[in-house]
Amino acid sequence: MELSRIIISETNDEQVIVLKEVGGERAFPIVIGIWAPDESRLLGGCGYHLREGALGLCNAEIGMWIRADAAGRGLGTAVLRALVRWGFTEWPWLRLSWRCSGANRASQRTAERGGLQREGRLRSNAVDPDGQRRDTCCYAILREEWEQLRGPALDTHSAPG
Ligand SMILES: CC(C)(COP(=O)(O)OP(=O)(O)OC[C@H]1O[C@@H](n2cnc3c(N)ncnc32)[C@H](O)[C@@H]1OP(=O)(O)O)[C@@H](O)C(=O)NCCC(=O)NCCS
Repeated sequence: MELSRIIISETNDEQVIVLKEVGGERAFPIVIGIWAPDESRLLGGCGYHLREGALGLCNAEIGMWIRADAAGRGLGTAVLRALVRWGFTEWPWLRLSWRCSGANRASQRTAERGGLQREGRLRSNAVDPDGQRRDTCCYAILREEWEQLRGPALDTHSAPG
């Protein structure tokens, strides 16, 4: 799949993020690299995963990782907001979701700061690489919610709470 390259400028905190496609595979068809402004360094990866039913349902799950030495500075939140904005303006998505471990506080906070609503917690439904069972926290935002809220709450560069 061809994906246009976009540059997102987060002017309030002077972050510039370059998102461009880096590859794809069956379970993760839309994989996007998060690059330093001069594109010399890959800072992380993100994507729209198609794990919530048939493509015609227009559901996508946002996935993301940020390399350790770039984390904790607002990059994950900025990229999530960009993916939500991009997903609801340039892509056909009607629902964007986010799932993470019940133990992953950074990921839960990123979803909340990105304006996603917490929908619930699946108890002991997954297994970590070390063999421990774990909970999964589920978040999502709907296109109509984003359209209603983006002015006052979501499409700003300040934390929504
Ligand atoms: C989740 C992740 C993408 C966040 O990226 P990031 O650039 O660190 O995020 P931000 O700097 O925007 O921080 C977002 C929130 O996470 C918190 N956070 C960041 N790193 C943290 C850490 N190590 N421990 C606890 N909280 C942390 C921040 O403090 C902030 O919360 P706050 O508003 O309460 O202060 C990154 O931690 C990561 O790659 N994790 C591993 C993969 C993963 O969990 N992906 C998400 C599910 S697909």
